[in-house]
Amino acid sequence: MKKRILAALLSSAMVVTLLAGCGATGAETTSEPAAATESSDAGAGAGSKVGVSMPTKDLQRWNQDGANMEADLKAAGYDVDLQYASNDVQTQVSQIENMISSGANVLVIAAIEGSSLGEALDMAKEANIPVIAYDRLIMNSDAVSYYATFDNYKVGTVQGTYVKDTLDLDNAAGPFNIEFTAGDPGDNNAGFFFNGAYDVLKEYIDAGKLNVVSGQKTFDEVATPTWGSDVAQKRAEDILSSYYADGTQLDVWLCSNDSTALGVETALAANYTGNYPIITGQDCDIENTKNMIAGKQSMSVFKDTRTLASQVVKMVGQILTGATVDVNDTTTYDNGVKVVPSYLCDPVFADANNYKEILIDSGYYTEDQLK
Ligand code: BGC
Repeated sequence: MKKRILAALLSSAMVVTLLAGCGATGAETTSEPAAATESSDAGAGAGSKVGVSMPTKDLQRWNQDGANMEADLKAAGYDVDLQYASNDVQTQVSQIENMISSGANVLVIAAIEGSSLGEALDMAKEANIPVIAYDRLIMNSDAVSYYATFDNYKVGTVQGTYVKDTLDLDNAAGPFNIEFTAGDPGDNNAGFFFNGAYDVLKEYIDAGKLNVVSGQKTFDEVATPTWGSDVAQKRAEDILSSYYADGTQLDVWLCSNDSTALGVETALAANYTGNYPIITGQDCDIENTKNMIAGKQSMSVFKDTRTLASQVVKMVGQILTGATVDVNDTTTYDNGVKVVPSYLCDPVFADANNYKEILIDSGYYTEDQLK
């Protein structure tokens, strides 16, 4: 606490210049004095230490999230302790405990498994350190103060709506054959993605216009532990050999994200010779964007990690100064113990027609990265 008071006092003299780039506050706000309430000057708190815990370097997006967070936090005057946990829950717990013992004032955590951070969170709570759940909700804990993410259900509806529109399901005779691949059951987002897509397509499945040939259509049946491309590939290979090897046409493979889509695309390349199906994704990873350009993936959902990082840095500043924290959703994300006040950024539809505008013109990738 002392550190925070000191930081708040020190920084009130530096308020004007710091965090000037954080943008305007959102329409809806809530005030949870989770941290120091010594100053209400937005932008104060510089010199404070922020622990940033990321799940893995294996997936492209988390490298970008971590790099953006680190750069933005440093630019705002904070000390940053950024750690990646190699998708190992115990490693993540130890890293967070180390951040706490080495004096973190705020923790930003993208959980590997939303429900498995118990000990570390208890320690944070005891030390009165506010926690922001980053992208993935931390479950079953009252130690989480805020949640910043993209509208996860909308990611799924964008995917489902794309399938519905592309096949013209309201008018076409069909039936069309579809398979689903969802995300990691330990990630609260995965259910939102799947349900968002399924809710759009359910009426056509019920009416027999969309036929799930494998019969696997519950979240548990189609989930991909760890979100691994290899895991998704293996399941896709099994489905292709069991249900499509006789020449059955596959029209759609609804994948919740790009890492799973990549696995499905690899399986299709070696095990399927019919007309190429519609494939959905999420994240606009480089490999998948290349595949979109090459016609091997139909669409992705772009979640600009720069937007999320700058929102979280803004929230960190607000927490550290006791200012009102910017949130725009206070109903959706119940973690089992409380409804966590959240800020939802907007996901954006991407395909081979608009990728230049949203990915290259915006400076997210260079043209060379996509060659
Ligand atoms: C993220 C997705 C990502 C997935 C796998 C989810 O929690 O929201 O963007 O594709 O994890 O890393």
